[in-house]
Order: sequence, then C-alpha cells, then structure tokens
Amino acid sequence: MDSITTSSYAIHFNQRAYDGLNKHLAVTAYSKIFILVDENTKRDCLKDFKKHIQGDFDFGILEIESGESQKTITTCTRLWEALSDGDADRKSLLINLGGGVITDLGGFVASTFKRGIAFINIPTTLLAMVDASVGGKTGVDLGPLKNQVGVINQPEMVLIVSEFLKTLDERQLQSGFAEMLKHGLIQSAAYWDTLKTNAGFTNMDHLIYDSVTIKNEVVQQDPTEQHLRKILNFGHTLGHAVESYFLESKSRKTLLHGEAIAIGMILEGYLSKELTAFPEAELEDIKTTFLHRYPKTEFSEADIASILSLLKFDKKNSHGHINFVLLEKIGVPVIDVKIPHELFGQAFAYYTES
Ligand SMILES: NC(=O)c1ccc[n+]([C@@H]2O[C@H](COP(=O)([O-])OP(=O)(O)OC[C@H]3O[C@@H](n4cnc5c(N)ncnc54)[C@H](O)[C@@H]3O)[C@@H](O)[C@H]2O)c1
Ligand SMILES: [Zn+2]
Repeated sequence: MDSITTSSYAIHFNQRAYDGLNKHLAVTAYSKIFILVDENTKRDCLKDFKKHIQGDFDFGILEIESGESQKTITTCTRLWEALSDGDADRKSLLINLGGGVITDLGGFVASTFKRGIAFINIPTTLLAMVDASVGGKTGVDLGPLKNQVGVINQPEMVLIVSEFLKTLDERQLQSGFAEMLKHGLIQSAAYWDTLKTNAGFTNMDHLIYDSVTIKNEVVQQDPTEQHLRKILNFGHTLGHAVESYFLESKSRKTLLHGEAIAIGMILEGYLSKELTAFPEAELEDIKTTFLHRYPKTEFSEADIASILSLLKFDKKNSHGHINFVLLEKIGVPVIDVKIPHELFGQAFAYYTES
C-alpha cells in the first residue's frame, strides 16, 4: 500500500508520499514553487506539510477563500495574476494542498498558465483523496453549472496522506464516502459490502487505497472519457443537476458534492431498475444505505422541474441526447442509456417515499 503507478505519474501513500515528493524536488530544478491553499488548509495542513519537506524552499503561498462558490474563472484570473506577479515561469511548480475545489481549480490554473506548468496534488479531504485529485480532470464552474470549463491534464504526482483527515469534520468525511460507495457500485460488489458496514470511518487507509485503485484502473483504460470512464459518472448526471440547483438557490441550504450524488445514485438506481433490469432488492439496498448516511432532502414539484431543466447543460450530453450510466447489478455498469422523460418524475417519487 505504498504507491500506485498510473500511465504518466505516481500516486504515493502516507510515508511514501513525502519520500516521493522530497526525491522529486531534489532532482527537478523548479524555478519557483507555489502552494495553493484555502483558509482552512492553510490553518490545518500547511504547517504539517512543510514539516515533512527536506531542503530549503522559499514557497510562494497562494490563498483563496474556501468553498465551491470560489471555483470560478474570476478566481483563476486572480491566481494567474498572482503567479505572474510572483515571477512564475514555465519551469515553476504549483502544489495544490486542499480539497477538490483546490485540486480542480489549481490543476486548471497550472494547466493554462503560460500554456501549462507542472502541478502536484496533495488532497486533504476524503473526497479529493479518493476522487478529485486522481484522473486529471481539472476545471471550474460557470455560474451554477458545474465543471463547464476545464481541461484533462495529469499532475506530476499525487500524494495521499490520510493524517490530513484528522481535522476534517464528519459531514465532509461522509461526503467523500459517497464517491467510495460509488466505486463499489460501479466496479465491485465486495467493496460495496465492505463499505456499507463501515461505521465511524475506521480502517480508512485500506479503503482509500482500494478506491483510488478502482478509479485509476478505469481512468487508465480510457483517460479522455470516450467509453469506460463514463461509468465514474454514475449518480452524477442527476446528482450534478441537484447540486447546481442548490448552489444557485437562495433559500435552500447548499448540498455538499457527495450529498448531492448520493441522491443522484438513488435516482439513477431507480432508472436502472426500470431500464436495465437492476434487481429491486439491490435498489432497496442502495436506498437504505444512502438514506442511513445522508439526510433526506425534500423536493417540491417546482424544485424537480428546475433540476430537470439543468440537465441539458450536462457535459455528458452529445447531439442533444442525455446519456446516463446505469447499473445492471451492483458492480456491473451500463453506459449511454437514454431515459424516457416520464421516468424522472417517478425516480424522484421513489426517492421521496419512505
Ligand atoms: N476532478 C474530478 O475528477 C473530481 C471528482 C470529484 C469531485 N470533484 C470536485 O471536487 C469538489 C469537492 O471537493 P471537496 O469535497 O474536497 O470540497 P472542498 O475543496 O470545498 O473542501 C471541503 C471543505 O473542507 C475544507 N478542508 C479541506 N481539507 C481540510 C482538512 N484537512 N481539514 C479541515 N478542513 C479541510 C475546505 O477548506 C472546505 O471548506 C467539487 O468541486 C467537485 O466538482 C472533482
Ligand atoms: Zn463526484
């Protein structure tokens, strides 16, 4: 459980992580090294990170405010300017130290600054460890629409240090856990069963390693999402629409990414029962598991109509069709399924009924 090798970079875990980084910094002559943080990772992670770095580096610290609402092109502009003011050049490095907002945004800023400088992801949330930091998707939101602008570009390396989770609150841990449950649903019934019974986030190192392995194997077979990689979007087509709707709504409490896709997975599980012969008992298993971990959200008819109108912006659309990833059974996904419109209402009704 030390490292995973991808097609172009290494993912190092725990003790191996800092060894890998120190070696890399010793042999690569970066002209300048910048670290991107938000106020929380600056407070809770930066000191710990610096403690493990050998050598005398004069890091440039770039700080943004935390939160999904900062994942915008306006924030990128500020960061491009800060890099420019800090004399960053093509040989500079950006280290993204934070959750998925930092790794998505920082990856995009690095990939576009001077047509691309190197970046390293050091995820500090569970969600970013098992998902956002791995696979090379970078980008920002456009208004409330998630991840509409971005590029696929791989980091130099990813360092997963589970110690950082010590300061993360339970709601954020639970949000990341949703992506791990997704990995089980799309690739491994055994992993799903193990996760389901995990209470209190114990034995996380092994579970994180298994999730990263699943994600990496999928991404390696299809880095640019032509076919297989689409399975990672299970729960995300409706989940992103739900997330966007709550992000935009003034009166409703914002849902975390994992909370939104947990709803998406129940909804898309229902669609699977209707369209791809997903067994009813497995659908019940999904619903019970997610509703046990994530608070139930109320949806009015007007909410549902607005959420469905956001679907047309989904990145997975092609030629005007919305393509869904559904399940045949737990661990066995089916891609590119088109959904008759009337089933969406039924799916929300299934979610809402107890
Ligand atoms: N690129 C991908 O493939 C991919 C995959 C999944 C999700 N994402 C994206 O990831 C984002 C969500 O990521 P997230 O859930 O990590 O959100 P986040 O980056 O907003 O982090 C959540 C909160 O935790 C705080 N935090 C981070 N690390 C901490 C620590 N160790 N201790 C205390 N507080 C800490 C942050 O400041 C923030 O307030 C979304 O924008 C989503 O679209 C991307
Ligand atoms: Zn996700």
